[in-house]
Formats: sequence, structure tokens, C-alpha cells
Amino acid sequence: MSQSRVPRPLFCGNWKLWGSLSESVALAKGVRDATAGVTAVDVAVGPGFVALAAVAEKLQSSALGVAAQDGYWEVKGAFTGEVAMAQIADAGARYVIIGHSERRQFFAETDASVARKAKAALGVHLTPIICIGETLSERDAGQALARVSSQLDGAMRELSDAELVRVVIAYEPVWAIGTGRNATPEQAQEVHAAIRAQLSRRLQGKAQEIRILYGGSVKPDNVASLMGQKDIDGALVGGASLTVESFAKLVKEGTSACIRS
Ligand code: 13P
Repeated sequence: MSQSRVPRPLFCGNWKLWGSLSESVALAKGVRDATAGVTAVDVAVGPGFVALAAVAEKLQSSALGVAAQDGYWEVKGAFTGEVAMAQIADAGARYVIIGHSERRQFFAETDASVARKAKAALGVHLTPIICIGETLSERDAGQALARVSSQLDGAMRELSDAELVRVVIAYEPVWAIGTGRNATPEQAQEVHAAIRAQLSRRLQGKAQEIRILYGGSVKPDNVASLMGQKDIDGALVGGASLTVESFAKLVKEGTSACIRS
């Protein structure tokens, strides 16, 4: 099986707080050129807000998508510092990352705010990439599956079934982010299968169409083994998305693994 893997895999970079305007545009152009021949998967980059429109403009006629790293549910009003989902769509983004663990940890993001953001994103035809994942102490206490399940439950709460099939879920164990310590493919698959089962209880067979990405220290040399797992449909990538060389290599290794599986 190759071109038709369902769901279609997605490899999305999350640049976090990185890059000047010119660095961001240059990285995006480099990734665009280096991944131009990749057709079996979707690929996206995730610049900071200041560079979002410039990067999207550069990528306008290419298959490389753009993801914002957050967004707000209100359309307009007295919400100093916030960026509306409609503004993100207007800037040319296709995706918006929501509920990243860094936003939960440092900026008081909650399951309730994640739910409202996901709903608002879908309302302007953005694809939300909803992040969920347990901390190390939760994993050590045997609570990983319960934690992820309750985050997913919270995120889905405001969505209709028709909306839910359009989201992307990213499982990112907090202990694996930026630590170089990725979950083993088996550890990741266990959680991905549980997420799929939970989605199936709402959507039955339609749950097979939802992309469940893994994130947390994904690198060019470990992406293939992760992608070999049945319920891993791509990756959300931090550090390894910050150079053309490593992200293009990761996308190509991941794509080859999809084609083999
Ligand atoms: P790293 O790939 O740097 O571990 O970051 C993962 C992440 O948080 C992606 O959203």
C-alpha cells in the first residue's frame, strides 16, 4: 500500500518561539523545495505569528501547508494580544495547533479553552491539531491512558460528529518533548490505539479517517519505526523541524515507512 494510506499522513513542524521574519521565510522556502517531490503525505510548517502571513504567501502555490501555533475563539473585540481564528485563516494558514502542552503548562490553557478553540477553528475551515499527552508523573503513576482520555473527552465536547472527523489529534507525551527521550513505538501505539478506540465510540468507522500524530523528540532516525505502527498517522515535530536538512530527511524517512507499511 502506498499513495492510498488512510488516513493520509501528516508531518507538521512546530517552530515554537524561533526565527526572525527572514529566517522563517528562508526555512519555509527550503522545506518547500526539499519536499517538492513528496506526494504521498501532507507536510506543513509552523512559524510564529509574526511570520505567518509572509510564510503562507511564499508557499501559496506549493503543497506545503502552514500551521499557526495557537488561536483564539472570539472573532473580534477587546482581547488584547489575541489572534482570531479568522485572522489566521486570512493569513493563509491551513492548520492551527491547539492545546500544546507548553500552552497548558505556561499559559493556563485548559481542556475547556481547547474545546472552544477547536470549534472556532473548524468554523473558519482551519484544521485544528489538538494536542494531548500525559506528564512523566502521570505516566509513572499508571495514569497515562486516563489522562489522555480525559483531555480528548474535553477537547471533543463542543464538536459535532461532522466537525470531529475534520480534526487532527497529536499525542505528545510531555516527558518526551524536547528531551531527546521519545516514546518507544510500542508505547506510542498503545496510546494511539486507545485514542482511536475512544474516537470510535463516538464515530464508529469514521474514526479510521482521523489522523493521530505522535510528537516528542521525533527525529529523522526514529520516525520510520514510529510510522510503522498501525495507529500513528504522522508526526508533530519541534527541534528537528528547524533546519531544512533534518525536516526534509524526517519527512522522506517517514514517507518511505508509510509506503512500506
Ligand atoms: P520536539 O520534537 O522538540 O521534542 O518537540 C515536540 C513538540 O512539542 C512538537 O509540538
